Amino acid sequence: MHPNLIEIDHPLMKHKLTILRNVETTTDNFRRVVREIAAMMAYEVTRDLQTELVTITTPVAQCEAPVIAGKKLCLISIMRAGNGMLDGMIELLPGARIGHVGLYRDPRTLEPIEYYYKVPEDIDERHVIVVDPMLATGNSASAALSRLKDDGVSSLKFVCLLAAPEGLETLARNHPDVPVTTGAIDSHLDEHGYIVPGLGDAGDRLFGTR
Ligand code: URA
Repeated sequence: MHPNLIEIDHPLMKHKLTILRNVETTTDNFRRVVREIAAMMAYEVTRDLQTELVTITTPVAQCEAPVIAGKKLCLISIMRAGNGMLDGMIELLPGARIGHVGLYRDPRTLEPIEYYYKVPEDIDERHVIVVDPMLATGNSASAALSRLKDDGVSSLKFVCLLAAPEGLETLARNHPDVPVTTGAIDSHLDEHGYIVPGLGDAGDRLFGTR
């Protein structure tokens, strides 16, 4: 389906996703659980970061101990729903820079249209993690990844809460080099482009707009 796919297989992840899926979950709980899941995803997606040894002194002895080394991080939110994942991720990655890509789906064609793009100037020197809760058609994610590659980014990952097979196929076709981390892979898209069973419109549920 995708050559570089991680579906997080953890009971806490599945439990928290069930809370998000439930139509009875209130806006405040939905936000809180997205934040918790995003922190877990930050943990998973950074497991291959390089470390180097530094010399420190503990209360007991001097020792060599590992710290994160190499390129700095940048999180990119695909607006607006991606913003809901930022707080949880920066709890674990407080030094990460943040960029925003604004894309909306043309309701008729489902194609992405860019209306906003603001990223750190040195984005091409960073590990970039793109976040969007829902990988549906994959068109927005694919457009955001292409835009970042055009800006010289060579280290890219994509993180979502839920993925549809259709979106994974789009990313496999257009960006097979970009690893994808997801909380679950759902069944399919409905005729409106919603993930089934999914959790509805992630932006509306995060921001209470519907
Ligand atoms: N975007 C959402 O918020 N939900 C879906 O199911 C698909 C795209």
